[in-house]
Amino acid sequence: MAKLSHAQWSSKMTFILAAAGSAVGLGNIWRFSYMVGDSGGAAFVLVYLACVALVGLPILVSEWLIGRRGQKNPINTMAELATQHGKSKAWAAIGISGVLAAFLILSFYSVIGGWSLSYTLGSVTGAFSGQDADGISALFTGMLSSPGTLLLWHSIFMLLVIVIVARGVTKGLEAAVRTMMPALLILMLVLVGYGMTTGHFGEAMSFMFNPDWSALSGGVVLAAMGQAFFTLSLGMGIMMAYGSYLGQEVDLIGTARTVIILDTVVALLAGMAIFPIVFANGLSPGEGPGLIFVTLPLAFGSMTGGTILGLMFFLLLTFAALTSAISLLEPVVEFLEERTSLTRVPATLISAILVWLLGIAALLSFNVWDGPVAFGFNTFDLLDNFTSKILLPLTGLGAIVFVAWCLDRASVQRELGLGSTGGTLWHITSRYIAPIGVICVFVGGLI
Ligand code: PHE
Repeated sequence: MAKLSHAQWSSKMTFILAAAGSAVGLGNIWRFSYMVGDSGGAAFVLVYLACVALVGLPILVSEWLIGRRGQKNPINTMAELATQHGKSKAWAAIGISGVLAAFLILSFYSVIGGWSLSYTLGSVTGAFSGQDADGISALFTGMLSSPGTLLLWHSIFMLLVIVIVARGVTKGLEAAVRTMMPALLILMLVLVGYGMTTGHFGEAMSFMFNPDWSALSGGVVLAAMGQAFFTLSLGMGIMMAYGSYLGQEVDLIGTARTVIILDTVVALLAGMAIFPIVFANGLSPGEGPGLIFVTLPLAFGSMTGGTILGLMFFLLLTFAALTSAISLLEPVVEFLEERTSLTRVPATLISAILVWLLGIAALLSFNVWDGPVAFGFNTFDLLDNFTSKILLPLTGLGAIVFVAWCLDRASVQRELGLGSTGGTLWHITSRYIAPIGVICVFVGGLI
């Protein structure tokens, strides 16, 4: 990233698209819906929304602000800004844990990206048409029980990521995001419309928005916060790296608001599309990571034009997964490029092969290696939980604490374009509310 650090986003729109391309992905549709289902519904959703607003927004702004000031890759940026402000170089640890998180997340992300690819093909071949809930579930379990199938799709997905990252093609992607994102939104709306025809829409809405607070526990709150970090691509240095391309004139708070609203709308629509189908077919919301793969094909199998809509949906989902996966591989590649004498292509290959290998361990968790490997989790769940609940929150916490406590208050306030009231609000949120929130949730969730 350092080598490119003087390049800038061609326009604010392009930047929003790139940030949204990273943020909107499997996290919004696959992960959000299965977490909601697993965690009992509305209580999770509401805590998640609070986390996004009170913690996600200020951390997103902080990561961009750090990136824009440092103009380097996250590790060097942190080291340099810390030195400039008379602080220890150890702040660079934030960058390092971010790279580690990106590496670990991509390994299991690619496995799910592979599922999405496989379902794209399944839609074309008509595998889902006319199937009932049992048939669709059987297809999904069949895929999970075959390490070979999972490996094939995981490998194809990683290969696509490698090709894109190795060629450094981001320009074309930005143009693609511009058309794909609205298309995805429209398709989600169509699915929500379908949900309304199932007769179980009200039940789904109440599941998602009418909380049963007794379902709330430290673990649920921690999961909701983890989801907020995951879905906004926070705590990984990714947004920091993006910020280094950002022009001085860009309004960070306003832009963060736009990206967050877009990201949240996609997630909520996903829930509103999926849960009516769950209830209409007597499926369990707590289905786990397979939730969208056993519900959406049911809808596509029974609606008019379902084959083509299903194809489009899984294609767009795969695309959204790819834009996020690219943003995950990028920091790992840069890290290798800058720390070793490797050039871009070998650095990409080596990082991707390591990610791919770890992904194999993750995909075996669904079949031959489904027993716990540590803390009662199998490899897949361990990777997912360790990153979203521990690494991301801690790294994000570091970023906001650095901005709030180490940088000069007046200059930050000026940079964010805040007057005195806004400045005070920012000061209180970034110094106390967000960090204390993260720490409480973190400690509460772990004990
Ligand atoms: N935010 C992406 C999603 O919701 C996943 C992701 C996480 C991408 C972290 C980059 C970094 O799918």
